[in-house]
Amino acid sequence: MSTPGAEAEEPERYEVTLCWRDGRETSLLVARDETVVDAAERVGLSLPYGCLYGACGTCTGKLLDGTLEHRAEPRALKERHREAGYVLLCLAVPRSVCRVEVGATVQADLVPNPWK
Ligand code: FES
Repeated sequence: MSTPGAEAEEPERYEVTLCWRDGRETSLLVARDETVVDAAERVGLSLPYGCLYGACGTCTGKLLDGTLEHRAEPRALKERHREAGYVLLCLAVPRSVCRVEVGATVQADLVPNPWK
């Protein structure tokens, strides 16, 4: 419901689709002030995470479509990772409908393999 004469309001929640590399996809509604990790936990979905404050990188996802904002400095990501679309889902809050690649293997993209 909108108030007559009010500016267009931002939606309270956005649909965020989580895409695993094995082809599974699940959509959930994430509030503007809720992180993707918190929203996933709320509905019983397991996403990898560790510190929950942006330092470890365990929760790394890759934004495929849409806009996510970090609500604090994502210290575990280098600038080039952020430019390539990587996000920390423990800090990421939605600002549009989004699609995000998730799962433990996404973080491995950021770490060079010394054995190759
Ligand atoms: S859980 Fe550690 S950076 Fe997100």
